[in-house]
Amino acid sequence: MLSVETLRIRFRTGDGLVHAVNDVSFRVGAGEKLAIVGESGSGKSQMALAVMGLLAKNAEAEGRVLWEGRDLLTLPPAEMNRIRAREIAIVFQDPMSSLNPYMRIERQLTEIVEQHEGLGRAAARARALEVMDAVRIPEARARLRAYPHELSGGMHQRIVIAMALMCRPKLILADEPTTALDVTVQAQIMQLLSEVQRDLGTSVVLITHDLGVVAGFCEEVIVLYGGRIMEQAATLPLFERPAHPYTRGLLRAVPNVEDPADELIAIPGSPPSQRAFPTRCPFAPRCVDAIESCRLTLPELTGGRACLRPVEELT
Ligand SMILES: Nc1ncnc2c1ncn2[C@@H]1O[C@H](COP(=O)(O)OP(=O)(O)OP(=O)(O)O)[C@@H](O)[C@H]1O
Ligand SMILES: [Mg+2]
Repeated sequence: MLSVETLRIRFRTGDGLVHAVNDVSFRVGAGEKLAIVGESGSGKSQMALAVMGLLAKNAEAEGRVLWEGRDLLTLPPAEMNRIRAREIAIVFQDPMSSLNPYMRIERQLTEIVEQHEGLGRAAARARALEVMDAVRIPEARARLRAYPHELSGGMHQRIVIAMALMCRPKLILADEPTTALDVTVQAQIMQLLSEVQRDLGTSVVLITHDLGVVAGFCEEVIVLYGGRIMEQAATLPLFERPAHPYTRGLLRAVPNVEDPADELIAIPGSPPSQRAFPTRCPFAPRCVDAIESCRLTLPELTGGRACLRPVEELT
């Protein structure tokens, strides 16, 4: 359904180019769930914005973003608007900024479908109640009259997901949907996304910096670093036999529920400068397993991993 092919995103800035996303390819099929994981600055949000045609003015995108066979990067704006309103929805990283503080919940939910599908007030309200039910919002009728500040953080996030569902999209891009929430509410929202996917058949791309939330959620994971895919694998094997030193490092930094005494080890060093297109492994400067060639050549993604060292040699 969605096929991203060698996507490259650069930003023109006062002091040169920023290479935010470098040759990323992946696919999401109907009803599938994919997670994209990476540290802050690894290019996750920009990839989602590129799919939605919402990149900043100073951005240049190359490659192809095929949606049901059409390249979204070259689609006329009117067509892109239609796809945004009806087929692909995004849950933005910051839920507060996607809600208008002065507007009742009802209006925030119904505005889009009234505009794009020409639904009347009553039909739009019925749809709103339906999606509020889908995202398990209790006392939906009363909540329709509420303003955002009257709702808890978890409830905000549900409303923002409900907004994305209003147009019955085929694909939802959920950008850090649980980051601002405490752990119990995080689990509820992940559960909710799973149920939405199961009940409505919507495909979901989950974007997160937290490998911990991915485990029970999706079939496949992409691990990004410096705007490049380091590893791409089915979820279980990725957790059981991570094949890239960066993935291993990330997993050592996730708290172990079974053994809380287990030491957490942060990856030393800081993210790469993105001033130049990578010509060698972007993770090499922080990698415990790096060898001379890692600092000289750019590893291609083969067999689901972009690493020059054989898996057996990793520490
Ligand atoms: N308009 C812009 N101009 C210049 N650089 C930008 C612009 N927007 C984003 N970037 C850069 O692109 C890179 C990727 O940003 P992106 O927002 O995709 O990161 P992210 O993985 O979503 O991080 P986070 O976890 O913090 O949300 C960053 O280095 C960022 O500074
Ligand atoms: Mg982001």
